[in-house]
Amino acid sequence: SGLFTYDPGFVSTASSKSAITFIDGDEGVLLYRGYPIEQLATRCDFMEVCYLLLNGELPDSTQKNQFVTTVKNHTMLHEQLVKFFGGFRRDAHPMAVMVGVVGALSAFYHEAMDIADAIHREESAFRLIAKLPTITAMAYKYNIGQPFIYPHNDLGYTENFLYMMFATPAEKYVPNPIIARAMDRILILHADHEQNASTSTVRLAGSSGANPFACISAGIACLWGPAHGGANEACLNMLEEIGDISRINEYINRAKDKNDPFRLMGFGHRVYKNFDPRANLMRETCHEVLNELGLHNDRLFKLALELEKIALEDDYFISKKLYPNVDFYSGIVQRALGIPTSMFTSVFAMARTVGWVAQWNEMISDPEQKIGRPRQLYIGTPRRDMPKS
Ligand code: CMC
Repeated sequence: SGLFTYDPGFVSTASSKSAITFIDGDEGVLLYRGYPIEQLATRCDFMEVCYLLLNGELPDSTQKNQFVTTVKNHTMLHEQLVKFFGGFRRDAHPMAVMVGVVGALSAFYHEAMDIADAIHREESAFRLIAKLPTITAMAYKYNIGQPFIYPHNDLGYTENFLYMMFATPAEKYVPNPIIARAMDRILILHADHEQNASTSTVRLAGSSGANPFACISAGIACLWGPAHGGANEACLNMLEEIGDISRINEYINRAKDKNDPFRLMGFGHRVYKNFDPRANLMRETCHEVLNELGLHNDRLFKLALELEKIALEDDYFISKKLYPNVDFYSGIVQRALGIPTSMFTSVFAMARTVGWVAQWNEMISDPEQKIGRPRQLYIGTPRRDMPKS
């Protein structure tokens, strides 16, 4: 039937109006609330970017202090939720744990919450932004069998995350400022990206009026896939598998072969058809971090640079406008910071939480908001009668 527009993958459907993030894919432009990502990544910290995404303007120093203090009020998890981790196998993928634990937050914040009330929505936003680093670090500690490290509110947001990841009861951990700055930049670059698959998932789940913590858990589930946030982990695994510069061509040829499902991970984007501005910033951070840490001869970084060069000169990638995306370099940076590969996508989830919450809040506050309810083109059997018995 021709009643509905058929648009698989929503390639040409605007699902919503939004004033948060703007992308011009042909020009490689990304703006948060009008500000270019290049300026935000070099002149702001993640807390300022969170404030901007949620409120529409950058904070002055009083507003920033207040914001940071409120986030700190919410960094702890309910002790019952801490126990929740124990139900998982130790070797569970951290994203599986994140989906479960973040979803379980809805059991703690539900009865007394009214999503029609802006104050309640704001409080949920603070809780989510504050608790995600704690949950992410606990997912890691659980996986490696170390005791949980509780948040330390004397530290900044990003330093606190690194502290919860890497401190042990036996050893203090003082985050290196270069590492903290690089991690902060990773968070800024992943903070929002308009109506990507996970954000659209959060909006769709939230459009029914569902609990926001459960909706964010749905976003985490969607982010996990290798075509979306899981690409950073998949990209690093791919680089490890290639292993040597001499084998790059073999993998490029596989990526071009229509009969081989293999794709070059960290390459291509639905919207960016010229370059991904986040990839440029991430490549720059990668150079900085590896130089500062004395890792400039890093095997995988050299391999990545060479792979990028060869792909960018190849007709297949040129004609299909396939460029490195943010995930191509973020894995190498995270690895240099000591984050294990299996945690890369969880770090992405932690960063994207502010974007999900800002978009959810924008949707709920929109007077035109309706439940999301796509239609379909039915291709099944027409009406028929059951056989006579
Ligand atoms: N390697 C080889 N070929 C590719 C790749 C790739 N990475 N990406 C796209 N193509 C080809 C694809 O086979 C198709 O060819 P054809 O037109 O002959 O069938 C053409 O390029 C267009 O691809 P598509 O799958 O129709 O494009 P899409 O907009 O649906 O998919 C994408 C975008 C990002 C899912 C895809 O490029 C991809 O799978 N990339 C690898 C995974 C990845 O790096 N994802 C991270 C995206 S950025 C961060 C995030 O969103 O989380």
